[in-house]
Amino acid sequence: MKLKEEVNKVIASAFDKAGIDTAPIPVTEATKPEFGDYQFNGAMALAKALKQNPRQIAQTIVENLDLNGIITKAEIAGPGFINLWLNDTFIAQKAAEARADERIGVMERERPVKVVVDYSGPNMAKQMHVGHLRSTIIGDTLANLLSFLGDDVIRQNHIGDWGTQFGMLIAYLEEMGEDGSGSLKDLEQFYKDAKARFDADEVFADKAREYVVKIQSGDAHCLNLWKKFIDISLGHCEEVYEKLDVNLSRDDVRAESFYNDTLAKVIEDLDSAGMLKESDGAQCIFLEGEEIPVIVQKKDGGYLYATTDLAALYYRANVLGAKRISYVVDARQGGHFKQVFRVAKEAGFVPEDVRLEHVAFGTMMDKNGKPFKTRDGGTVKLIDLLDEAIVRAKEAITAKDNYSPEELERLAKIVGIGAVKYADLSINRESNYVFDWDKMLSFEGNTSLYMQYAYARIQSIFRKYEGALSGEIEISDTLEHRLAVMLLRFEDILIRAADDAAPNQITTYLYELVTLFMRFYEKNPILKEGVDEKTRTSRLLLADLTARTIKQGLNLLGIQVVERL
Ligand code: ARG
Repeated sequence: MKLKEEVNKVIASAFDKAGIDTAPIPVTEATKPEFGDYQFNGAMALAKALKQNPRQIAQTIVENLDLNGIITKAEIAGPGFINLWLNDTFIAQKAAEARADERIGVMERERPVKVVVDYSGPNMAKQMHVGHLRSTIIGDTLANLLSFLGDDVIRQNHIGDWGTQFGMLIAYLEEMGEDGSGSLKDLEQFYKDAKARFDADEVFADKAREYVVKIQSGDAHCLNLWKKFIDISLGHCEEVYEKLDVNLSRDDVRAESFYNDTLAKVIEDLDSAGMLKESDGAQCIFLEGEEIPVIVQKKDGGYLYATTDLAALYYRANVLGAKRISYVVDARQGGHFKQVFRVAKEAGFVPEDVRLEHVAFGTMMDKNGKPFKTRDGGTVKLIDLLDEAIVRAKEAITAKDNYSPEELERLAKIVGIGAVKYADLSINRESNYVFDWDKMLSFEGNTSLYMQYAYARIQSIFRKYEGALSGEIEISDTLEHRLAVMLLRFEDILIRAADDAAPNQITTYLYELVTLFMRFYEKNPILKEGVDEKTRTSRLLLADLTARTIKQGLNLLGIQVVERL
């Protein structure tokens, strides 16, 4: 339920009654319990327009406010804030409705949008590294979230499968023997070996260069080698996806090479739009106010990363028909996307009304504040990182309970992978963040374990409870009131998180929700003797809705819950 909208409607009708004839000003969530549930801070802005003082305006609004429905109390504070409290009966009823709904009250959008989410995008020449981890996790969450809200989401994995390195790699693959899968077990090593060979041996280097030309001109033998190489490399990525539990399949792969045949047309169209300028033999676009031009074709006729992205933008906007295209890519590519988006719009490749966004993220750092690397300075293989997460998760949870080996294995995977994902998603994506095993695998604080533990704890209440779960929610104290309001905010939070492409808004919410629930549960026992039946039922219903909200929230982040922990 869009709770905020309901509150806004009440304010809007007070405006009407008071004869305030301006665009409505929305309320905000109160930041402290003593400020109520929502706050109206618009009186200050209105003061100028109405030439009255803000407290007076606040007074007028309050006098005209309907306090018999959704809102039950309004208090003027400070220079003219209005603190608003919601009615217990109203929220109890809405919470019951949410409980009865399998989507816990989150509606599908009335006007769904077709969205392309471009994420992961590893390069096939190399091992997936931590930068792709962030893109994969954040992108997957955004895609899950938008599709839960009803948007038509198209996931696109723009893998780097084209470029001059592949000449060297396939020449080396050929040398290593037809199958090659053995020597390609370790892609990083394979790349190093191929490069060493390339640097040491002129004949090999010439062959590698010749193979680049041959793949590009469609030579069957070379194309076959290339396909084999990509297939094996993509297989490595899929192992990571599988372990990470992300929703990316081969069908979502639309590689750079997919656009090859359209690149010449991109240049042609840019030329007819009068946007190209030759500089040192290269085809460039000079954008007003930008120092560095966008190079779209090199002197030797070769195309660039930007050219492919322009082709992809055209495809996404016109063939796929996307109205929002989100690129979940490292912040360091900000300049690239800024330019490419501008060119695409100016050249008419993408209609004006299509929203293009770079969902940028910062760098993952180690505890010493340095970019995350292996001890000898190499890139950390993702698969190793994930395996380590599972091992560490085992240690973290065995202290708590005795599990059978199979159960421990299953739990460790869910807990370990969840911890890695949650740690990443819970920070403002644009900041750099410190990768810290101990922090992410803690039962305390804003961690996935804290949420999973709370969930499991609620499930254990239900395992102990013998009766049927029917009856009504009744709000009997402030904590219950706040918990119910928090639960009802879920949809608002999701909508905003989707719009801002900000998964950390969901984690912040979950953290507040669970913290509140823990306090509620401490103070308001559920199964304890002496609690009367009506109260118990009401608390159980709130606990149930809380658990389902935690589960739904975590699932959107690509994290599973467990029944026992
Ligand atoms: N392969 C690129 C990289 O590793 C990421 C691709 C991002 N998507 C895009 N359409 N450019 O940096």
